[in-house]
Amino acid sequence: MLYLDLTLKLYGKKVYPKQSGAKPVRRPFKHVGVFPEQASNWGWIKKQVSGKSGARILNLFGYTGGATLASAKSGASVTHVDASKAAITWAKGNAKRSGLENRPIRWILDDAKTFMKREVRRSNHYEGIILDPPAFGRGAKGEVWKIERDLIPLLDLCFEVLSEKPALFLLSGYASGYSAISYKQNILYLKEKFGGEIESGELAIKESKSPRLLPAGIFARWSAP
Ligand SMILES: C[S@@+](CC[C@H](N)C(=O)[O-])C[C@H]1O[C@@H](n2cnc3c(N)ncnc32)[C@H](O)[C@@H]1O
Repeated sequence: MLYLDLTLKLYGKKVYPKQSGAKPVRRPFKHVGVFPEQASNWGWIKKQVSGKSGARILNLFGYTGGATLASAKSGASVTHVDASKAAITWAKGNAKRSGLENRPIRWILDDAKTFMKREVRRSNHYEGIILDPPAFGRGAKGEVWKIERDLIPLLDLCFEVLSEKPALFLLSGYASGYSAISYKQNILYLKEKFGGEIESGELAIKESKSPRLLPAGIFARWSAP
């Protein structure tokens, strides 16, 4: 389990992800307000981005914006993409409540695939890409996202827009039908091309007074050498 020394303010309340378990903040619709199992990834993002001033980070399927805020707080320029207007408004509010509203964050309401095809055409590049795709979703104009059909082509587009000296790549997922091993294999290309390390495994939330872990999702992440 990785430790994190980053405090984010979400929904106006402090999140203390000392370990991967953050303090939940309840929302009125059965949502704790953040994805606390991602906390160890936020710490990892901070480590990869710190000292690389102006690193360009792309956060696809950004939702509540935890990874966007962790990147922005560490000095990156962030492009945050989500197909839901409500989710973008929510994430923007989180940036404001965290005192990060003046950081360089582009908020893009778009379908992830459509956006990525455009980025390839524009020859835009990023030092880091974070993506947390759902098993099934819809783009801003109703485009269908199906992970079993769309993940690999999307990863290929992601690899095309990585800069010559990338810093990080993080793929995570929930109920996707994939295993952590397959996620790792899906990004092996990065290690072959740039060296560095790939870690993979399960995302979990630790019970505060016991060693028990609540499994929540899977991840694979590549760090530059
Ligand atoms: C699993 S959540 C991501 C959670 C995020 N990691 C966080 O910490 O808040 C998936 C997000 O993908 C978005 N989404 C679904 N289909 C999409 C698509 N085709 N293009 C872009 N975003 C999409 C949803 O609106 C939702 O916000």
